[in-house]
Amino acid sequence: MLLSGRGSNLQALIAARDRGELAIDLVLAGGDRPAAAGFEHARATGIPVYASDARNFVDRAAFESDLFAQIEESAADLLVLAGYMRILTAATVESWRGRLINIHPSLLPKYPGLHTHARALAAGDVEHGASVHYVTPVLDGGPVLMQTRIPVLAGDSPEALAARLLPQEHRLLVASVALIAAGRAQLQGDTILVDGSAIASPLSLPLPTG
Ligand code: GRF
Repeated sequence: MLLSGRGSNLQALIAARDRGELAIDLVLAGGDRPAAAGFEHARATGIPVYASDARNFVDRAAFESDLFAQIEESAADLLVLAGYMRILTAATVESWRGRLINIHPSLLPKYPGLHTHARALAAGDVEHGASVHYVTPVLDGGPVLMQTRIPVLAGDSPEALAARLLPQEHRLLVASVALIAAGRAQLQGDTILVDGSAIASPLSLPLPTG
C-alpha cells in the first residue's frame, strides 16, 4: 500500500486481516512522506515501511523508480493507493495495470481529483460515496470495481460528510481487496470481470444493516 497521510485505510486492512476477514499478507507500506502518521500502523504490526522524501530526488521519475524498486522487491501481487498524493507516471501505471487500485472518496465518475465532499455539497447532491477503481493513466478515471453510498444530510459540512464516509470507505476497501485476493475480480482491458463475467456497472456495497 502507498499512503501519504493518516493511513486509516491501511489500518482497516490490517484489522480485517487480523480478524481473519482478509487472507492477505501486507508486505510493504510505502510513500513519499517518511513522517506520514500512517506508517505507524505498519510499524506496529511489523509491515516493512519504505518512504523517501520526494524532494530528495532530481525528478518525479527518479523518486518513483526508487520506490517501485522496493515494491517489486516486496513481490506484492496487488498495490493499493489510499490517500497517496503523488501522480504515478503512465509507464508505472501501465506496468501495474490490473494490479493497482485506488480508493477515491466520490461516486466516480463524479468528482475526480480533490475536495470531493465540498463539491458534492456544492452540487446539492442527495447522496455521496466512495469508489474503488483500477488505476489507469487518467487520474481517478479507471474502471470502477465497487462503490458505497451514503446520504447527504441537511447541514452537512465537508468535514462531517467526510467523517461519515470514511468508515464506509474502509468497508469498501476491505470488500474490494477481498474480491481481488480471492481471484474473483480482475481487469481485462478496460472491463472488470467478477466471477468470470464482465460487470456493466460498479458493484454496490450495501450499508451495514442494524
Ligand atoms: C481517504 O478518504 C481516501 O478516500 C482518500 O484519501 C483518504 C486517505 O485516508 N483518497 P487515510 O490516509 O487512509 O486515512
